[in-house]
Amino acid sequence: MTPEPPPTVQQLLAFYLEAGVDCALGNEPVNRLADPDLAVEPRAAVAHQPIARTAPLPPPVTPPRADAAVAPDVAINSAREAARTAPTLEALRQLLENFEGCALRYTATKLVFSDGNPQARVMFVGEAPGRDEDIEGLPFVGRSGKLLDRMIAAIGLDRSKAYIANVIPWRPPGNRTPTPQETQICLPFIQRQIELVNPDVLVTLGNPSTQALLQTREGIMRTRGKWLDYDTGTRTIRAIATFHPAYLLRSPSYKRMSWQDLRAIAKALAETS
Ligand code: URA
Repeated sequence: MTPEPPPTVQQLLAFYLEAGVDCALGNEPVNRLADPDLAVEPRAAVAHQPIARTAPLPPPVTPPRADAAVAPDVAINSAREAARTAPTLEALRQLLENFEGCALRYTATKLVFSDGNPQARVMFVGEAPGRDEDIEGLPFVGRSGKLLDRMIAAIGLDRSKAYIANVIPWRPPGNRTPTPQETQICLPFIQRQIELVNPDVLVTLGNPSTQALLQTREGIMRTRGKWLDYDTGTRTIRAIATFHPAYLLRSPSYKRMSWQDLRAIAKALAETS
């Protein structure tokens, strides 16, 4: 049997992408096969062996963790203090650009602060940026963003009449779930953003942003479509949870319920205009 030729760099990159490895966490490549603690065959012996698609990936390079240096409670307190003092959205954005208490900023390409109209009457909040958002520095510009645009259009609006942000403003590496600590550190910033935008209606997209902002442990199936109060400290805003567009892309049968939520949002906006 003729052995398969070794994969090309392009094939290897495609394999990594398919496996979800779509960002580099270190500036320098690490040759883990050179680690004397790893029991591997000498390089010459493996050089011509085909790489099986199921071959285990090398462990990811650990990024510098800012919150390892800054204790989490210190980071949370400094986030609270910083966010509280931001008088405007632009000041808040600047604060986040300079904030060093969250490790995610070191692996992200760009801060993803917001998109849309700060004067909008409706504000949508997602979980955290993905790959496309990290590249563009804008929330919801990838596939799920296209669906969010269609959801917003279904109630007669577009990005010039809505405001969009995320609980976490930096992309977690490899799109992993943000840790509870990262969420707690970022929470004061999104809370201040909501207070400054001061929308008539706040819409949380999916479980993580609903649980973080509306202080519930219930899942999205129970929380969606129900009106809740969001207290900014100075005002109460009507809030409603609905499915995250990424979830709707995976489970389109829930679009019917999402449509009901959108109609409720349109009705609330009409009532308060
Ligand atoms: N998912 C989110 O929660 N936010 C984005 O900005 C993009 C995808």
